[in-house]
Amino acid sequence: MFNSKTYIKRRTELRKKIGGGLILFLGNNEAPMNYTDNTYTYRQDSTFLYYFGLDRSELVAVIDVDENKEIVFGNDFSLDDIVWMGPQPSIKQLALKCGVKQTASLNDLETMCGNAIRQGRKIHFVPQYRYDNVFTLHRILGIMSSRVNNFASTELIKAIAEQRMIKSKEEIAEIEKAIAISYQMQTTAMRFARPGMYERDVMGFIAGLATSLGSGTSFPVILSRHGETLHNHFYGNKFKDGDLVVNDSGAESALHYASDITRTFPVNGKFSPRQKDIYEIVLLSQLVAISEIKPDVNFKSVHLKTARVIAEGLKAIGLMQGNMKNAVEAGAHALFFPHGLGHLMGLDVHDMENYGENNLGYDEKTKRSTQFGLKYLRYAKPLVPGIVITVEPGIYFIPQLIDKWQSEKKFTEFINYSKVNKYRDFGGVRIEDDVVVTKKGSRVLGKPIPKAVEDVESVASDKI
Ligand code: GLY
Repeated sequence: MFNSKTYIKRRTELRKKIGGGLILFLGNNEAPMNYTDNTYTYRQDSTFLYYFGLDRSELVAVIDVDENKEIVFGNDFSLDDIVWMGPQPSIKQLALKCGVKQTASLNDLETMCGNAIRQGRKIHFVPQYRYDNVFTLHRILGIMSSRVNNFASTELIKAIAEQRMIKSKEEIAEIEKAIAISYQMQTTAMRFARPGMYERDVMGFIAGLATSLGSGTSFPVILSRHGETLHNHFYGNKFKDGDLVVNDSGAESALHYASDITRTFPVNGKFSPRQKDIYEIVLLSQLVAISEIKPDVNFKSVHLKTARVIAEGLKAIGLMQGNMKNAVEAGAHALFFPHGLGHLMGLDVHDMENYGENNLGYDEKTKRSTQFGLKYLRYAKPLVPGIVITVEPGIYFIPQLIDKWQSEKKFTEFINYSKVNKYRDFGGVRIEDDVVVTKKGSRVLGKPIPKAVEDVESVASDKI
């Protein structure tokens, strides 16, 4: 974890922003896979990690803003536990690591919350995404489980989001450690994959790298010859000569900061002319998007500029037609680019998405679009120095979507369906980097991971 001063500073800032009441932080518990003692890999809650840094299950923390108190609640492991788990620090020792002097048992939490409720004090908490924690809030606050998240504190969400949105130097350094692992995952996948292998062969190899070099993957690996399925988690296809492989994967650093990188490469090491055409359009759109990122620019306008580059590129090779400004305004490009340009990234790969996307990426001035494609943009507001955001345009040929739009004669003035149908078996291309907004522009984080055609071909043909 970081030095205790980091956590003390973060909590002091939060206390000032909130002004009064109690702030409740529920850590994550172990999550059973199929019976209690057989658990998924443990992942601490990111809000808890941000303010307390303690990477252990069964912890809760409270900041009592009115009384200027901070308490970590947890039960020390028993000797029986230690027989199975080995020596463990006490709750007191753990709390000191993040600068908290007061500790108490989990039973005391219920008493403290009961007293606060009786005194009519406000108890702030963020929305919960795990059912055991929803149930804990039901038990200690007396709110019906199904309604717990209706009582999440908007004030707290806003205050935390404001803090976590802007990454400090030490956070950027952690993210770059995760990207260094991504470098290995991406280049190894290019060098290892070959026709005749299964997707799972490559997925397993790079997921293993994420575990051996850091804290594992930051989300389930997307690695497929069917790049047109945006979040494909099926790994059972066999690579054929001539396939493109989309590898959208990321790692967590030791402190659980994420990376999220996508590369697309030819499994045999050489792009076909048709693959190269599409790849070059995506690459140009990504480079333009990155060059557009600077403070005060709306990310939505960066998304739309990127869409325009994609549309113009597709027009140049005959897949789109007509006026591309009008096509993008109408949303015709979304047949090929049906997702948002990127998302915030930090301790979560989709940073703070548990607080609600609209609480982060949208506000009174920037409303979410209802247009197909654009509605999936997760962050649309103006950019601010310190924000880390992914930039991940793509072009996909999704047969079911092509068929639907064609049967509805949708956007026939902009889409050349007879040519598009020749690409039905193409798959998809996505290219993604993680970018920090600086005072004057932006910086692509980490050591550059090959993405120019010749660089990708050079790595992907140098097989291990
Ligand atoms: N890279 C996977 C995602 O953004 O969900």
